[in-house]
Amino acid sequence: MPGDLIYLDNAATTYPKPRPVLDRMIDIYGRQGVSPGRGSYDLAVEAEELAGAARSKLARFFKCPDPDRVIFAGNATDALNLVIQGLIRPGDHVVSTRLEHNSVLRPLYHLRQQGRIDYDLASFDGQGFIDPAEIGRLIRADTRMVIVNHASNVLGTVQPVAEIGRVCADRGVPLIIDAAQSAGVIPIDMSAWQVGAVAFTGHKSLFGPSGIGGLAVSPELEIQITRFGGTGIDSHSLTHTPTFPHRLEAGTLNLLGVIGLSLGLDFLEAEGIEVIHRREMELLARLRDGLAGLPGIRLYGVEDLSRHVGLMMVNVEGIDPEDVGAILDADFDIAVRVGLHCAPLVHESLGTAPRGGVRFSLGPFNRVEEIDRTIAAMRLIAESGKRSGKPR
Ligand SMILES: Cc1ncc(COP(=O)(O)O)c(C=O)c1O
Repeated sequence: MPGDLIYLDNAATTYPKPRPVLDRMIDIYGRQGVSPGRGSYDLAVEAEELAGAARSKLARFFKCPDPDRVIFAGNATDALNLVIQGLIRPGDHVVSTRLEHNSVLRPLYHLRQQGRIDYDLASFDGQGFIDPAEIGRLIRADTRMVIVNHASNVLGTVQPVAEIGRVCADRGVPLIIDAAQSAGVIPIDMSAWQVGAVAFTGHKSLFGPSGIGGLAVSPELEIQITRFGGTGIDSHSLTHTPTFPHRLEAGTLNLLGVIGLSLGLDFLEAEGIEVIHRREMELLARLRDGLAGLPGIRLYGVEDLSRHVGLMMVNVEGIDPEDVGAILDADFDIAVRVGLHCAPLVHESLGTAPRGGVRFSLGPFNRVEEIDRTIAAMRLIAESGKRSGKPR
């Protein structure tokens, strides 16, 4: 960590990545980094085995019955585009929520602007939770899928996915979850929860590098091919390989990312998801309690931390969130994310649009002392109302 930086932007990406993950990733890629699945020489077979082992690990991790149905993509955004574009047909209806990130909202909006689909968005209550019954009410005869944000990147609230899964299964509609913020902190059981597909990203709480993510797809869900190209097999055919995982993968795999993601999962397993989550929640509770006592500070969605991940948003009365972020950075060396966090409808519903808020997001390497320094910094900001002199 450079200097004395307090990094509280782990919801954007976890930082730093565990050193053993980075070192081993480079080492393995240095020795075995050839194109997987494209040759019959030993190294190419080994590279393919690395990818296969990572699929198996991810399948166990998400309780996906078939490792071949774990496909790699660039990140959660890429995976969500694959599943959304691959499921919809002209005239379809989609149900989603106002908690979504732009990685869901923008593909849906684009498709609606093109006149190809229509959608309805479930609202959330004052604490940031979706009511599964509302999802049920929004499902129509022509609803093709329900897409739900598992853990909000603005409020940190975790949605009752098992219950939503039951509602969707009763209506015969696949449930897709955006697990960008939950994978690695909340155990996910796509089989028990009757989830059709889980979109994940590697660089947040899975501790892989950026540029790798994917989709775990239930055996019952068919997804149309929307990207075409080389898969290393069936090369005589001009038709894209129809079988999983190649069905949804085109072009050379990001093997460096796959190796890093696989090592990130090893790190998680060694540390224990529950242990990491508990530690982050203890720190979040300390931060919440410390900030709650300060004058002019408003907290959002943190009354009930029992269904939460380690992040929260606040605002300081009379000071623009961007200024709060700039002061934290310039005067206290604290890195946070301010603004709308790529989730504009959350802020519309909360009444915090268009300026947004200040998000503190914790990671496994944060310490109690850093939380206390953050509370002290926020106390000074709230009490003095001072603005940063840092040029922007
Ligand atoms: C809830 C949520 N969904 C999707 C994404 C997109 O993840 P990525 O940028 O890795 O594609 C993010 C990233 O911040 C997120 O918080």
